[in-house]
Amino acid sequence: MTGAVEPLVTVLLDPDWASGSLVDDVRRGLGAQPRRLPPKWLYDDVGAGLFDEITRLPEYYPTEAERAILHEHAADIAAACDASTLVELGSGTSDKTRTLLDALRSPERPTGPLRRFVPVDVSDATLRDAAAMLSERYPGLAVEAVVGDFTLHLGQLPRGDRRMVAFLGSTIGNFYVEERRAFLGALADSLEQGEWLLLGTDLLKEEGRILAAYDDEAGVTERFIRNCLTVVNRELGADFDPGAFSYVPLWDRRMERVDMRLRAEEPQVVSVPGADTSVELMTGEEIRVEISTKFRPEGIRAELAEAGFEVTGSWTDRAGDFALTLARRG
Ligand code: AVJ
Repeated sequence: MTGAVEPLVTVLLDPDWASGSLVDDVRRGLGAQPRRLPPKWLYDDVGAGLFDEITRLPEYYPTEAERAILHEHAADIAAACDASTLVELGSGTSDKTRTLLDALRSPERPTGPLRRFVPVDVSDATLRDAAAMLSERYPGLAVEAVVGDFTLHLGQLPRGDRRMVAFLGSTIGNFYVEERRAFLGALADSLEQGEWLLLGTDLLKEEGRILAAYDDEAGVTERFIRNCLTVVNRELGADFDPGAFSYVPLWDRRMERVDMRLRAEEPQVVSVPGADTSVELMTGEEIRVEISTKFRPEGIRAELAEAGFEVTGSWTDRAGDFALTLARRG
């Protein structure tokens, strides 16, 4: 016996959430002009494995940069806030978070050690594994996992105990401007005055390095983006021929974001029986799969302020590639 308390797991996603929202997204997104397929469908088991591979590519700097910031500054972050609960949105395996948890659990922390950890993720299995591992590793820490979608369930997160919400990995960069504003507003609404946000953002830098991170030599990003067609084939019985599309990563200088698209290389009619629809594509027509926005420090500050947060601290890696911003709900 380890004496670890069993983690609590609350399921907020209903069982057919995945199929239902995929149908909606395909109907809405593939039926629209320009055609779009939201990036959340990139992360089935194959996609999650490919993303993991991306984080280890020589061209892909964000993961290492964020890890380095946590290594160097987790204690500073823990000392700069008085949170007793850490909520992590899109926690996955929570591996980077352990550095933060170690610092927040330190008995030397001025406001006392963290009492509760709430990992939130759509993947039930990954979450249960991570929760069990964390309860074991941090005796005395209450682990209350939530199987949920962080764009839907912010209002239903456990309350009380001065929370800090961590949203790492620059996942916020995958939202379009309007989605970002709505998300930050909903997040602010879900928090009490004085509660905290720790936000990871990839910073604007020389265009060549940014584009290389999304157009790697080994072609892993290309496979990752193309995998969304395989997901739609499997889940909705569609007959996309992934080989009939080429991968087009673009740097959008005006919007300061990478835009990852799939371009039809031949005219085609794709039927999607599970969504009761079909899509006709001309040669050269593109499907927008994901964007990855790069931020300026003053932009982060302004967007957070607009949502009702006041920035109280910010840390970058030595190269200044990535930022962790600590903000307080005003
Ligand atoms: C999900 C934000 C970590 O935008 O850099 C990586 C996703 N897509 N390569 C990013 C991604 C293609 C990634 N994050």
